[in-house]
Amino acid sequence: MILNEIIDKITDEFENSDIFFGHGAVSPIDEAVWLVSSVLKIKFKDINKYLKTIVSVEDINKINLIKSMRIEQRIPLAYLLNEAWLKDVEFYIDERALIPRSLIADLIEDDFYPWLESIHNINSVLDLCCGSGCVGILLAKSYPHLDVDLIDISDPALEVAKINIQKHNLQKRVTAIQSNLFEHCKKKYDLIVTNPPYVNASSMTKLPTEYQKEPQLALASGEDGLDLTRLIIKNAKKYLNANGKIFIEIGHNRDVIDEVFKDLNLWWVDTESGSDYIFMLEKNDLP
Ligand SMILES: C[S@@+](CC[C@H](N)C(=O)[O-])C[C@H]1O[C@@H](n2cnc3c(N)ncnc32)[C@H](O)[C@@H]1O
Repeated sequence: MILNEIIDKITDEFENSDIFFGHGAVSPIDEAVWLVSSVLKIKFKDINKYLKTIVSVEDINKINLIKSMRIEQRIPLAYLLNEAWLKDVEFYIDERALIPRSLIADLIEDDFYPWLESIHNINSVLDLCCGSGCVGILLAKSYPHLDVDLIDISDPALEVAKINIQKHNLQKRVTAIQSNLFEHCKKKYDLIVTNPPYVNASSMTKLPTEYQKEPQLALASGEDGLDLTRLIIKNAKKYLNANGKIFIEIGHNRDVIDEVFKDLNLWWVDTESGSDYIFMLEKNDLP
């Protein structure tokens, strides 16, 4: 079979299945191209150059096996291929950690403009609730002057983060620390970024199957989705240097946040998905 026939066939099968797109691809054709390009080791953006290539039986079998697991078991493709991207940076990923998709990546791409006077005045960063380490590692890769600590409570997730630190050769500047929030944190930082668990109890019961393949510790955050956010806000101040800032991602919880933290001076930050998903607090405005 030639490549474009395989892509068409898989796209059709994905289209006629119950799979949910929320982990790196937004449509059946996106996932089909991702799957074949990964197995054939072709860059996603170069796929058009190879559409008339004859694919070996061995590769077709590999592609079909992964496709069947995707459709029948609803395992996200990122886990089946052990790869995910944040912006154009590739990360290793498996079921031990949440699949990278944090909107904090948009802020990194924009140098945190206009929220930081200059990223070059920042030296130390904490990625709290780091999972695969994708956010902290993207920061360290984007700004070679930064020292970045990654904290997570989950040892399995930290194993994935360590694979990514090595993959990007950042052992000298990025350190993974096991800690229940700030419990084992010994330093102060100029900048804290965090994408904590934020799914409320009611939404947890309605998640598409794909999300149930992710660590539930990475998603669930109590009745209103704010258990972790409350604790972070309560404790962050003493881990920030003077003029330090914290950016907190909160999913679809803006209404609840605005109500619960109405006495705090929250700044809602623009991302490519809108301005309801991440807020910033300055050290002096933290309780
Ligand atoms: C939504 S995931 C985010 C992962 C990563 N930052 C990303 O954007 O892909 C939240 C992470 O918080 C971690 N976590 C949950 N409770 C925690 C706690 N009490 N202290 C530290 N990390 C925690 C989970 O293990 C998970 O890796």
